[in-house]
Amino acid sequence: MKRDFLCMQGVSADTLTKLMDDAVGMKKIVLSGDKSRDILKGKTVATLFYENSTRTRCSFEDAAKYLGATVTVVDVSTSSVQKGESILDTGRTIEAMGTDVIVIRHSASGAPKYLADNVKCSVINAGDGLHAHPTQALLDLFTIREKFGRVEGLTVTIIGDVKHSRVARSNIVSLTTMGAKVRVYGPPTMIPVAAERLGCEVCTSIEDAFRGSDVIMGLRIQLERQQKGLFPSYGEYARFFGVNPERMKLANKGAIAMHPGPVNRGVEFSYALCEDECCYKDVQVTNGLATRMALLKWILED
Ligand code: CP
Repeated sequence: MKRDFLCMQGVSADTLTKLMDDAVGMKKIVLSGDKSRDILKGKTVATLFYENSTRTRCSFEDAAKYLGATVTVVDVSTSSVQKGESILDTGRTIEAMGTDVIVIRHSASGAPKYLADNVKCSVINAGDGLHAHPTQALLDLFTIREKFGRVEGLTVTIIGDVKHSRVARSNIVSLTTMGAKVRVYGPPTMIPVAAERLGCEVCTSIEDAFRGSDVIMGLRIQLERQQKGLFPSYGEYARFFGVNPERMKLANKGAIAMHPGPVNRGVEFSYALCEDECCYKDVQVTNGLATRMALLKWILED
């Protein structure tokens, strides 16, 4: 049976642990002078991104190449999508070329699942609408475990536009699966109604959000997804919800600041924080490559 990776719901702690364990070895390959392996020799990975991306797309393409797979990059802007070809027909066309895995990003929630239900090859969700970004959550989990040696028992506070964030949604699921306590904080217009039902606590002040946290996770203001008017201005946002080195001092000793990227500097994270050693955004990028290598191996190994 083929393996897909579409969302974090239903992914067990054992599977997450196995992927993270494998990513440890993959990171060694990434950091070594010799990144060419033949673990996936003979396999083909296609990337099909209907939305912009730097980190996710490049890391999947590099991950496949480092493990010896062939990579097909479907540039949606110059592909037959522009002639009106549907997701289904595009997916089946890519599959008919002998592709083993399609990595898809789409603005419509559910598009990767629809594709997975209609093709025989494996499908990985690289972010769909407001729904899920499971590989971001996997790399975040790995980054936290690498730093603290565990995930269980830690407090992770997600600050920002939780309501419009597929990153937050996937992280809440995977972090709680691994036994972390998850809290959220942000403008009330950006916190989902009944956030507690997602398994997280809602903080009531910026000080409370930082106090007791091992990890502060900032989120990008997603102008492409939200209606305007959910916060007064970028300046106000930075003042009331921004992460900076002074606020990080309220968090637990050794706490780290994470961000999926791209960062709006001076808004979610201050310029100073981006250069501070507690800021792990670049470590996350390297770990994204290692975890996506582990994921491709897991998807294709049998
Ligand atoms: N974190 C993330 O998904 O970044 P990209 O949009 O650059 O892939």
